[in-house]
Amino acid sequence: MIEIDDVWKSFDDGKIAVLKGVSLQVKSGELLALCGTSGCGKSTLLSLIAGLEDCDRGVVRIDGRVWQSEREKVSLLRREVGFVFQLHHLMPDLTLEENCLVPVIAVGGSMSAAKIRMRELADMTGVGHRLDRSVRELSGGERQRGALVRALMNDPRILLADEPTGALDEENREIVFQLLLDLVRKGGKTLVMATHDKEMAQRCDRVLQMRDGRIVS
Ligand SMILES: Nc1ncnc2c1ncn2[C@@H]1O[C@H](COP(=O)(O)OP(=O)(O)OP(=O)(O)O)[C@@H](O)[C@H]1O
Ligand SMILES: [Mg+2]
Repeated sequence: MIEIDDVWKSFDDGKIAVLKGVSLQVKSGELLALCGTSGCGKSTLLSLIAGLEDCDRGVVRIDGRVWQSEREKVSLLRREVGFVFQLHHLMPDLTLEENCLVPVIAVGGSMSAAKIRMRELADMTGVGHRLDRSVRELSGGERQRGALVRALMNDPRILLADEPTGALDEENREIVFQLLLDLVRKGGKTLVMATHDKEMAQRCDRVLQMRDGRIVS
């Protein structure tokens, strides 16, 4: 479902080399953990898969397709890929509900269906009682769970999650991880998750270890 072929990425006009020839394939319905020390390139790799950054070299294919145009890329990614950012990136002045509805508006989806789905997901992750609060009033863990709800609003086939449980206590970490597991095992989604949590990584189908911009095992 996701193919990454010899991808290179640098920043600052090539001065900061971050990814140095990464290749990997993720099968449909697979739960993959990306591990490695801080700064090894996990978030950058997820951003490339999500089309938020362009590769310097190499290709990323989703379902065997490479984008022919920006328009095609945006249209596909909005529907098929959900992204839970490491720093959540919710809009602080909007309520959690408004944040969650933004991706639905972006694809012209049904608001009434979206609100039912949002309520279900928010209750499952324990933020149902926070939907009408502005994001700046939420705790770090509530924001993180809210970001997961938002990523799932358009029912994407692929979920990219960057440290989705980093800000959570043990109980909420388990709740969120179980939800992620269910999304893959019962919902058939494909999940790539960057994590520092070894115990969670071991419960994934496969663990890729990155070091200094390369996959080492
Ligand atoms: N936009 C950018 N401009 C310049 N350097 C960047 C940019 N984005 C990332 N980097 C650098 O690329 C390297 C990899 O960053 P990345 O965020 O991918 O690491 P990571 O593996 O996700 O780390 P962490 O575990 O701390 O989240 C870091 O050295 C970082 O400083
Ligand atoms: Mg990161």
